[in-house]
Amino acid sequence: MTDVFRVDLAIAEVSAVWRQHTIAALYEMAKNAPGQSCELVLPRDSLLVVQDATLARYVLKENGANYRKNFGGFTALFGESRLTADSPLWEKLQKLSQPFISAARPAEVAVASDRHFTNAVQQLLASRGPNGSIVADRELSRAAARVVSEVALGFETLDVDDELLDDFRTLLELGSAANWNFGGLGGEGLEKLRAEGEAALARLTAVINRAATSTIAQTRDASLLAELVAAPEVDLVSEVCSLIFAGFDTSASALGWGLFLLAATPGLQQHLRAQVMGVCGDAAITIDHLSQLGDLVAFQDEVLRIFPPIPVLGRTSIAGDTIGETQIPAGSRVLVSIIGIHHDRRRFDAPWEVRLDRNVLSPERGTDQALPFGAGRRVCGGSRLANVEMTTAYAVMLRALEFNLPDQKPLQFEWTASLRRVGGQRLNIRPVAR
Ligand code: HEM
Repeated sequence: MTDVFRVDLAIAEVSAVWRQHTIAALYEMAKNAPGQSCELVLPRDSLLVVQDATLARYVLKENGANYRKNFGGFTALFGESRLTADSPLWEKLQKLSQPFISAARPAEVAVASDRHFTNAVQQLLASRGPNGSIVADRELSRAAARVVSEVALGFETLDVDDELLDDFRTLLELGSAANWNFGGLGGEGLEKLRAEGEAALARLTAVINRAATSTIAQTRDASLLAELVAAPEVDLVSEVCSLIFAGFDTSASALGWGLFLLAATPGLQQHLRAQVMGVCGDAAITIDHLSQLGDLVAFQDEVLRIFPPIPVLGRTSIAGDTIGETQIPAGSRVLVSIIGIHHDRRRFDAPWEVRLDRNVLSPERGTDQALPFGAGRRVCGGSRLANVEMTTAYAVMLRALEFNLPDQKPLQFEWTASLRRVGGQRLNIRPVAR
């Protein structure tokens, strides 16, 4: 590899810092070497971290056929699913589920999101501690999991309770430990997680099978769930877990960071609340309102840019290739740093600042320089659904609640599957004064 800087993870101290502070390290790399690729040297091989948007699009899209998705650790957990497979099976699973996910009608997504996030607001108010303190993550995850299981999969009777969310979290922790284990976590730590993961998977299997059987007995409408049950090549639990996980962990992560940014910038919070009140009043939020909430959508795009829920995308090259000026042999691992791309100050002036006029996400609206949903053949299947869900959720929450930061603690990141804050998003809330 040439023209890249190197980080040597074969050095034990460097490797320990990298493992504990991977996300902070990715933000530092973006700050100190904007757009530059990095060779991450491992004990046995090395991987290339790509930080430039044009090179990322080359890997993911233009030469995407040369790169397999690297999802190894999660495959052991979720089996071969649309999320984890990269083979003819992926093509089959993609063809099966994508029509349902794309066709999840925006109007229905808005109605379901309004209902589930209104419920989340009530739960958050009920769970307040002294000074109105809350940790928002669980309620956001629960609401997002309910939206995706209802509108994308067609579940009517899946009870997304605390135990189910905990089981998902256990699986994600294990998957992530195995997937991003650059020679790191081993021995007892991983074994313990593995045992917990197996127990969690056994419980999820029972719950999903039960809910699938009763939903199908009760409903006659065509649904993704019914298609999955009927398809012999599909591992139902793997597929359902993958789709629910892909849909809820990401959206809940983004919404949590959005609430954090709103709490950190009271003027912006007031401005967006005024826009929501002006457009929606006290009526239920519908799809017709969303197109009138331009600043809220721009804010949502900025949240995804600053705190991308999926901070890196892993790939393995099939044949040797040249990425920019760097030659890589066949079988090389490549990490596309979405953080690096989104915090590239050559493209985004003052990358940590929320600026509603950046127009980073939509080609029609602007520069298309951000990639929170990935790109190419493995691009997110649920981006449209997620965008409608998130705008509705922000509108519901802004109208009902005021958010403040309880303290000025420095940001610490936790990375299991999606990007989270250590200890969760701790905020103070109170009902909006009318
Ligand atoms: C803010 C919310 C979301 C973000 C940031 C997000 C991000 C992503 C990213 C970056 C990928 C590509 C991973 C890669 O290339 O390695 C992906 C894949 C995927 N996402 Fe999302 N996602 C979100 C919400 C959703 C929702 C609501 C669904 C609905 C089910 C969904 C379904 C999927 C599926 C099925 C894939 C796999 C696509 C394939 O390879 O066939 N996502 N997502």
